[in-house]
Amino acid sequence: MGLGSIGSMLAGYLVENNEVYGVGRAWHINAIRGRGYLLMRILFKSEEKKVKLAGVSSSISDFQDQLFDCIFVCVKAYDVRNALRELVDNNVKGTCYVFIQNGIGIADIAKELLGDANIIRAVTNNGANIPEPGIVNHAGLGETFVGGMYGSEKEYWARRVSESLESVGLPAKYVDNIRYYLYLKLTINATINPLTAILRIRNKGVAEISELREIIAGVCREIEEVARAEGIRLKNTFKTVLSVAKRTGENISSMLQDVLRGRRTEIDFINGAIVKLGRKHGIATPFNDMLYKLVKALEKAKSYEA
Ligand SMILES: NC(=O)c1ccc[n+]([C@@H]2O[C@H](COP(=O)([O-])OP(=O)(O)OC[C@H]3O[C@@H](n4cnc5c(N)ncnc54)[C@H](OP(=O)(O)O)[C@@H]3O)[C@@H](O)[C@H]2O)c1
Repeated sequence: MGLGSIGSMLAGYLVENNEVYGVGRAWHINAIRGRGYLLMRILFKSEEKKVKLAGVSSSISDFQDQLFDCIFVCVKAYDVRNALRELVDNNVKGTCYVFIQNGIGIADIAKELLGDANIIRAVTNNGANIPEPGIVNHAGLGETFVGGMYGSEKEYWARRVSESLESVGLPAKYVDNIRYYLYLKLTINATINPLTAILRIRNKGVAEISELREIIAGVCREIEEVARAEGIRLKNTFKTVLSVAKRTGENISSMLQDVLRGRRTEIDFINGAIVKLGRKHGIATPFNDMLYKLVKALEKAKSYEA
């Protein structure tokens, strides 16, 4: 559900061992249908793969009343609620649902709409993009952590999802503390993403511009405090952020790309989520609040450009 960048990439690998169907937007689906396959370019191997899915559609109603083993929900965080409503309204069910979004709070939205379903969370370090309709680039290979969040068979399904990814060549690991991995990635997304988007800089700027140190430290400290109140112990987040910014130095972060394209960002589920949780636990989060508000303003800034 949501055959975009990461959804197309996952589908491109999973077809090897599974019957995979994809629901996405008409511009991508029509190009796949026109060509007869989804073209996946594995950039780090200089390989191309012609991917034949069992079925693609731009309308979930084509799958009405069907039950799938596993539904990968691959829309952006702010579209999860709508995508799930469409699934529910069309009586499309999964024995489990996998959520791959960056950010936190997604599984709770899923629980609200799906009740007792097996809700699996995945944190992925792969990189994918769609350079043109019908084509997906797998730009960077990274590990995916998979863990159960809700449902009576969550552990069984999280293990199966992790094994399925591994079996098609995508490094994956089942973890019994997926919330730790969600918060760890959140720390990186809550610093590198907004700072690169606000300043319009490549990731290495976050590591090299000394004036940013105090801000990064403040954001990290607040996230560590909020995480502790939620029962998660994070350590050395400041150092981790700097080393990731250095290692991915030439990258243009996904949030900066969204801002440059005039698209909505996922800030509500990143710094915005920390501000909300801070309020719930009585923890002050001024650094996260400032970055959150600046990025929200950025989303509206296009029509005010000087
Ligand atoms: N791309 C990566 O490398 C990467 C890496 C790690 C994590 N992630 C996470 O993965 C999630 C997805 O990111 P992405 O980069 O794959 O986003 P994306 O390229 O925008 O893909 C999402 C696709 O789903 C479509 N969509 C939204 N609602 C839909 C619906 N109800 N039915 C059918 N299609 C729908 C979107 O269309 P519209 O644009 O028209 O709404 C878009 O084409 C994000 O939370 C992101 O943080 C991505």
